[in-house]
Amino acid sequence: MTTQGEALSKEVIFDLFSRYVSPPKVRFFQQVGIDFVIGRREGAFLWDVDGRRQLIDCHCNGGVFNLGHRHPELVRTLQESLSALDIGNHHLVSEWRARLGARLAELTPGDLTYTVFGVSGGEAIDLAIKVARGYTGRPRIISARGGYHGHTGLALAAGDEKYRRPFGPMPPGFVQVPFNDLEALDAVMDETTAAVLLETVPATSGIVVPDPEYLPGVRELCDRYGALLIIDEVQAGLGRTGRLWGVEHYQVLPDILVIGKGLSGGLYPITATVLRPPLIRVFEPDPFIHVSTFGGAELGVPVALKVLEITATPDFLAHVRAMAAYFRQAFASLAARHTGLLVRLRQLGLMMGIELPHPQAGPLFSRMAYEAGLLCVYAYNDPRVVQFLPPLTVDRVLAEEIVQRVDQALTVTAQVLAQGKEAGAWSD
Ligand SMILES: Cc1ncc(COP(=O)(O)O)c(C=O)c1O
Repeated sequence: MTTQGEALSKEVIFDLFSRYVSPPKVRFFQQVGIDFVIGRREGAFLWDVDGRRQLIDCHCNGGVFNLGHRHPELVRTLQESLSALDIGNHHLVSEWRARLGARLAELTPGDLTYTVFGVSGGEAIDLAIKVARGYTGRPRIISARGGYHGHTGLALAAGDEKYRRPFGPMPPGFVQVPFNDLEALDAVMDETTAAVLLETVPATSGIVVPDPEYLPGVRELCDRYGALLIIDEVQAGLGRTGRLWGVEHYQVLPDILVIGKGLSGGLYPITATVLRPPLIRVFEPDPFIHVSTFGGAELGVPVALKVLEITATPDFLAHVRAMAAYFRQAFASLAARHTGLLVRLRQLGLMMGIELPHPQAGPLFSRMAYEAGLLCVYAYNDPRVVQFLPPLTVDRVLAEEIVQRVDQALTVTAQVLAQGKEAGAWSD
């Protein structure tokens, strides 16, 4: 069924997509033998548009679908929004943006207080960098090699080199260091450093869970050099790690916290850059120095509030931790049975990465997982690792089903590797 007119066949969709959207993307999926077009979606499940294939979503767009697809309460909330609201006017004072700002101030750590709304994670990171530079009057932004913060201007400049290479000169002042290495960070920090920008658990570089002392050490270095700490929780936030915010595991208070993806409930794009009180000074001379027409669109705000209401309860977070414990145990058994292939499960709560022995194995496993009915995608900056992010609403029965399918995919991956077959590429 389509929302307008007759359903299109899959063949026609591929043809239109190739002619009018992205021929290289269509070629890619044809090459790797994946002819999936999202049709029906509900809870943890996605169906092919022809209804023939069902996938359990263990990718969740990096956390957009933390609460599954089309969560009934979120759908109802958006429907109610539609009966009264529209985008609103981003220049005016807004009841709905005020309500969401207040709730975020309550729920975020320490004295994080003021929210600047955006539409995308990249935009929210751009704004965080602008604030850091505007507040400190310093140019330098230090981020992690292999990190990912989005494809917009300043976020792109802070990310991995391969995403920047084709696009010419980048803004100056960006430096990357290895993640989880305090000495390397200390070596590049100085009085020109405006901010250190890090994901709590870098996802695109393979769900790298930092050592317990790393983020507190980064905080100390920032304090020593008078730099700000920007924490990107676009993926790690909103309960994914078993706490509402990933940084809570490390008792670190960032100066700026960036929230995206899951705040949308998968229904209405919205992101938040939350600032500690002194930083609002940047907007004192001109409160319109940064605006975003669709940022914090009023239609999406009640959905975001509902996401927070569901996610922030102790029971919900306890459920995430309980399911994380189940996966930890299940993967320990899988590792014993798939020695030489399954290295380990990288894990902080339900932020998980399946570590395999070499870079060919991740793309191959992703392909085999697809055959086994799972959507999970390897980490683009470390293809040994397959990002494994089931919805946080996963229950024990579904978790067992997922583990069974992972087992199946590992078995076939091992067989194909043993036959020396080449893994096809499969990209995020
Ligand atoms: C950690 C992180 N930060 C920022 C972004 C950028 O978000 P968006 O795609 O909404 O611009 C992403 C997207 O995957 C991300 O994973």
